[in-house]
Amino acid sequence: MSVRYHIGLDEAATDGVRYALLPGDPDRVEPLARQLDANAFPLGRHREFTSWRVELDGLPVIVCSTGIGAPSTAIAIKELAELGLRRFVRVGTTGAIQERIQLGDLIVSEAAVRLEGTSGHYAPTAFPAAATLGLTWALVEAARQLDIPYHSGVTCSSDTFWPGQERYDSFSGYVPRHLQGSLTEWRALGVLNYEMEAAALFVMARALGLEAAAVCGAIARRSDDEHVATGAYALALDRLAQVCAAALPAHARANPL
Ligand code: URA
Repeated sequence: MSVRYHIGLDEAATDGVRYALLPGDPDRVEPLARQLDANAFPLGRHREFTSWRVELDGLPVIVCSTGIGAPSTAIAIKELAELGLRRFVRVGTTGAIQERIQLGDLIVSEAAVRLEGTSGHYAPTAFPAAATLGLTWALVEAARQLDIPYHSGVTCSSDTFWPGQERYDSFSGYVPRHLQGSLTEWRALGVLNYEMEAAALFVMARALGLEAAAVCGAIARRSDDEHVATGAYALALDRLAQVCAAALPAHARANPL
């Protein structure tokens, strides 16, 4: 048994667990875990990685925060995989860029634009950032059965919250020329949303023989403005928990490891 350096967990903590739920925010782990399972319990906390263990209809799951962005997400995945986890679901928040997506709607990512650097350390840029079909389908099916509004399609994963997501309300107010107009272009190409971790998760999972999916709740509507609508948080998080609670056990029953 050895404690993994960054996430602070060892094999005893993850014994028998194959599924991970990966929110970004460490402070979201406890409320998510408690909503999923009244008997959820904490496993540890180190740097941006807070971990709890839950059971969903008898299926053991680790809820582990990744921090913001691809580099720390890659660290969490690597160390959790070493501890036996194989199926990873990002459960995050996002900015919607298509007019039809409302605050609080869920977005299931089928694939992601690699507007980040971390995934390039695992596979060349020509390699697709594609989610795992079965796990993704389980999320879609759960949202559909729960009658939760959802959209599935391509996500843009950006290394930055401001220039990469073409936000002008920044310290300098400047977006470099190569990113000016990028939001309009992604929208024209049918991209649904911006977030910061899915592409790295998808590429890394493919490269390492793991399975990965991502579902995010819309807390910004870029057709309206650049701001995060904090009022949409509670609804988005409640829907995310409901979908994960239904999707993971159903997926595990249909796809035993
Ligand atoms: N997360 C992002 O990366 N962008 C948003 O607009 C909202 C959440």
